[in-house]
Amino acid sequence: MADVKKILENMTIEQKVGQLVQFNAMFFVNTEAEITGPMMQYFGLTEENLKNIGSVLNFSNGKETMEIQKKHLAEDPNGIPVMFMMDVIHGFRTIYPIPLALGGSFDPELVEECTRMVAKEAALGGVHVSFAPMVDYVRDPRWGRVMETCGEDVLVNSRMGVAQVKGFQEEGIATCVKHFAAYGGAEAGRDYNTVELSEHVLREHYLPAYKACIDAGVDMLMPSFNSLNGVPATVNPWLMKKILKDEWNFQGVVISDYNAIGELRNHGITNDKKVAAKLAFENGCDIEMCSSTYFQHLKELVEEGTFTMEQLDEAVLRVLNLKNKLGLFEDPYKAVVEDEEKAPFLTPEYRQIAKRAAEESAVLLKNDGILPLAKEAKKIALVGPFADNHEIIGFWACNGRDEESVTIYEGLKAALPEAEIIVAKGCACQWNDLDRSGMAEAIQAAKEADVVILCLGEDEKYAGEGNCRTDLRLPGLQEELATEVAKCNPNTVAVTFSGRPLVLTELEPQVKAILHMWFPGTEGGNAVASLLTGQANPSGKLSMTFPQTVGQCPIYYNRLNTGRPKNLARDNEYFPYSSNYIDCGNLPLYSFGHGLSYSNFVYESLELSADSMTKDDQIQVTITVRNDSPVAGKETVMLYMRDLFASNSRPVQQLIDFKKVDFAAGERKEITFTIKEEMLRFWNNEQKFVSEPGEFDISTGYADHLLLTKRMELKA
Ligand code: GLC
Repeated sequence: MADVKKILENMTIEQKVGQLVQFNAMFFVNTEAEITGPMMQYFGLTEENLKNIGSVLNFSNGKETMEIQKKHLAEDPNGIPVMFMMDVIHGFRTIYPIPLALGGSFDPELVEECTRMVAKEAALGGVHVSFAPMVDYVRDPRWGRVMETCGEDVLVNSRMGVAQVKGFQEEGIATCVKHFAAYGGAEAGRDYNTVELSEHVLREHYLPAYKACIDAGVDMLMPSFNSLNGVPATVNPWLMKKILKDEWNFQGVVISDYNAIGELRNHGITNDKKVAAKLAFENGCDIEMCSSTYFQHLKELVEEGTFTMEQLDEAVLRVLNLKNKLGLFEDPYKAVVEDEEKAPFLTPEYRQIAKRAAEESAVLLKNDGILPLAKEAKKIALVGPFADNHEIIGFWACNGRDEESVTIYEGLKAALPEAEIIVAKGCACQWNDLDRSGMAEAIQAAKEADVVILCLGEDEKYAGEGNCRTDLRLPGLQEELATEVAKCNPNTVAVTFSGRPLVLTELEPQVKAILHMWFPGTEGGNAVASLLTGQANPSGKLSMTFPQTVGQCPIYYNRLNTGRPKNLARDNEYFPYSSNYIDCGNLPLYSFGHGLSYSNFVYESLELSADSMTKDDQIQVTITVRNDSPVAGKETVMLYMRDLFASNSRPVQQLIDFKKVDFAAGERKEITFTIKEEMLRFWNNEQKFVSEPGEFDISTGYADHLLLTKRMELKA
């Protein structure tokens, strides 16, 4: 390890400031006039700044990182290596299902294994730090970045975030939890929009997953673009000082989001870059990403005494310590491979794990028994824009290439070589593409087939940064296509793709089964084929609610009961003076935790080891489940609780634990959980996490479909 304190002693203030700035690779590999001229001027960059840069993002490949590193080290008198960072969210070259899908696998071990494989490829590509995990809690599917998160439950987000931290770090890649905080709470589901949330909602739902990742040892943290209760997160003292430093004692590196410090002007915080730099630094932002207020003003702020040299040194040491932890001083090039074509990307092992992850995160939303496909189905029509479509790897696919993915057609052809498979696109998957010219051919193909697989969804770029939707239905003419196809062939199944919950209310009654794939990644087509043919048994559950209509949004499972709750047993009726709609029920089309299997899991009993406990006790819960079928499968057994009466209104249901369990055909198993007092806590009006004595319902099943319930008491 290097003696970073000694290195620090020899650094000029300009060199120290340089460690606290990050810019795009393009400034370091180009000699194009556009870059070295207007672009540098636009960002206020000088040649000296570039020589002192501490870290670089958005590079094209490992070769580029080697060029930058070599040039930098040749000129850096302190011999401090550049750190390379990238958004490696759910794959580097082999792409795995989007995080919203992986959340629905309810399998943290699987997520950790996928992340390890991702990290192996990323290391070959020159990545030192991944801007992951993204654990933003979200309740509004209109927001494009739902695809990056693990959904609407804080426990799922926390466990999957921790699994990603472990997976990356096990392979020597540092991690950066983001976006702190509550970016997913954007009003109207519109990216970068205002976030106004009460403290108890923040504390109970939006903040815990970041804390879980910090407790798991995440290396960095990235504040979010949004304002929180009127103050942009990057310079929000309540977030960045009170919570992050004073309460959570975060010791890692804080890096701004892309030009977030520069955007303080747009937020109306300051028009003065020196003030922007001051606000960011005093709120704990160590590295400024892609804006140059630190280059332009941090030295001056120190020399004038606004900040002490010790404060500057502390921030620089956090960065140097991270470089040291990564071993960059000993080996600035680490595992990077110069010739990508020779690098072991997309190995059979990676593809196999990516396929398994896609199988385990897919959700069987409906099945009247038509799936798995009968062996007799010899003539299959694949109809719809995703029938033979490579664009199934999602928005944040890093160096992944659409053309390297397996389409449904390719997957099914490989799985059913004897079958006659007809492909007819029918229409597009873009909201404004109303070209009907393919409809007749698609309808004809459906008429002639034994079974029709409707392959529908939203364009893969429709869910991602800056990409939000006001309409969650299948875009374009897809609903019309489904109606026409279902009319002429009742043996119709739908396979759907999205980066967010969709409104499938129109589609649902028209087809006999719906298999939702999210964006499944490189092996998507093979996963679809194995699930449709029964080679794999669906086991995914929804990580996020699917609304009946976008008008219900935000809609989420852990809601409060209100003072005038609707009788949900009669949800299709309207009740005057109840909390309900005139034109729609309250319940979603599909609830959080919903997901079918080819097995038939019977929940036989839920027993408690006692019917009461004190704060110092625990209660064992035993849930007996039987696989009443000849098909082996996996079932996620979920444990919910409801605090019936407390000083704050409490959710009608709250997931407090889950386990994904293998069952052989006909097998019965007892699944045990332990209820601890801390699982019963909430954020009260004295700003503390507390549990209160009283009665609690303990249930299993899934949201809005709780199957077995026992009551217990927490005694004072
Ligand atoms: C983007 C995203 C952030 C990402 C960063 C670097 O704008 O908000 O998640 O890590 O910029 O690409």
